[in-house]
Amino acid sequence: MAESLAEAVSRRRTFAIIAHPDAGKTTLTEKLLLFGGAIQLAGEVKAKKDRMQTRSDWMKIERERGISVVTSVMTFEYEGNVFNILDTPGHEDFADDTYRTLTAVDAAVMVIDAAKGIEPRTLKLFEVCRMRDIPIITFINKMDRESRDPFEILDEVEEKLALDTAPVTWPIGRSKTFCGSYHLADNTVRGSDTEVEATKVNGPQAVADRLPENERQAFIDETELAIEACRPFDRDSFLEGHMTPVFFGSALRNFGVRDLINALGDFAPPPRDQVADIRTVHATDDKMTAFVFKIQANMDPNHRDRIAFARICSGKLERGMKARLSRTGKQLGLTAPQFFFASQRQLADTAYAGDVVGIPNHGTLRIGDTLTEGESLVFQGVPNFSPEILRRVRLEDAMKAKKLKEALQQMAEEGVVQLFSPEDGSPAIVGVVGALQLDVLKERLMAEYGLPVSFEMSRFSVCRWISADQPADLEKFVTQRRGDIARDLDGDPVFLAQDGFSLRYEAERYPAIKMVAIKEYH
Ligand code: G4P
Repeated sequence: MAESLAEAVSRRRTFAIIAHPDAGKTTLTEKLLLFGGAIQLAGEVKAKKDRMQTRSDWMKIERERGISVVTSVMTFEYEGNVFNILDTPGHEDFADDTYRTLTAVDAAVMVIDAAKGIEPRTLKLFEVCRMRDIPIITFINKMDRESRDPFEILDEVEEKLALDTAPVTWPIGRSKTFCGSYHLADNTVRGSDTEVEATKVNGPQAVADRLPENERQAFIDETELAIEACRPFDRDSFLEGHMTPVFFGSALRNFGVRDLINALGDFAPPPRDQVADIRTVHATDDKMTAFVFKIQANMDPNHRDRIAFARICSGKLERGMKARLSRTGKQLGLTAPQFFFASQRQLADTAYAGDVVGIPNHGTLRIGDTLTEGESLVFQGVPNFSPEILRRVRLEDAMKAKKLKEALQQMAEEGVVQLFSPEDGSPAIVGVVGALQLDVLKERLMAEYGLPVSFEMSRFSVCRWISADQPADLEKFVTQRRGDIARDLDGDPVFLAQDGFSLRYEAERYPAIKMVAIKEYH
């Protein structure tokens, strides 16, 4: 019998892994994929990362700097559930990409290095999750190495993140003696992840026997204290974003990952409701809706086609169906939507809420776009951040100005940079959140368009989107300040200021003008 929409939705778990670089995100992703049978051997994700890195020139940046620039999605099934992992770039210079990806998840796994605790990037990413009430499962990684005391780590999470912690498992041993996890509520124990079923035990004493004699009493005392003093896991509180269940393990040595994947299946929510301009969309609503949160250029520089990553929010996407693109009102045939697995892509015949499909297109789709089966609605909340760095692009060969214009437009549509066209007709200004994005732009302009460029300081350093309740006020401002006004890719006006001081000054002089640092795509 065909699966009902409600059943299909209830099996979906769509999440991101948030971590400070080096905490073990790649290793953990790989182990999760191994469980799902999406890959056969440990090392494939890393190997794939390497292969991809050699595939196109602009990704040299990744290779040289050892950072992951590209966001992607990977799907696998485990014990009846469909898991979609949305990968995010670790480096903060690509923060806008990461933030947009987080709009497309229903839960997050926060990976913490057991020796380092909460690191700056973890904190930042956590704050974004909190803003969106995304429930978080915590995985304390690298327990096979010298680590901090588990209570100390829990305290740090509580203090720095103002988040209640509920240790679900407790580590058995530390560093060299680390040998598995003890489930505090179920009174079960699991050695390595190869043990599919956890074994019921007769209290911590029975578990302590797995440890060297001098560590046994400490383990018993600790687990008793954990049971008495720590909060028990409360799913409602977790779903509201107030509490995080905590698991201890070692992704590299295969400990605790099975606990984590079970928790994702048992605790993490199925696809959430999504807010649109005219109504809230429920995952089990009949009609298909989706929004685009990322555009990625084809890795093959000879083909200019792009993949738009769309998260399905409701209904059923079927290959061949026609969708309405809200921004233009035009129809779009979904002839070749794709699913992504670790090592391959596959045509997606059907996709449900929570799933992410790649839609190949030649520039029709943009970040923030909404697709529906005909309804005129627009999803809210995919953010666009005002750039921290503004530059003019200097072309070495002035004859190629037209080509540069086209290339910049394409890069901006992909979300690599933001592009602002000054009202006074002066050359376009590019804006980025992090300096590395400029490096990516430069490399790609060279590799894909044969355009050698350099960047020049612009007289502006701050930029804000502007609007006014009365259109006449906005018009007046735009006319009076023509030299400081530009249009973004959507034609929306921005005000460019020399620095923060002049921005505040102008904001006071023109109280009718609203100036905002974050624009939500609409
Ligand atoms: P990231 O994606 O969060 O940046 O981290 P990644 O998984 O690449 O892991 C960073 C380093 O930490 C890697 O070592 C990885 O092998 C190691 N690692 C990950 N999980 C564990 C763990 O549970 N225990 C221990 N001991 N190490 C772990 P590397 O030497 O930088 O890279 P590689 O050359 O081993 O690939």
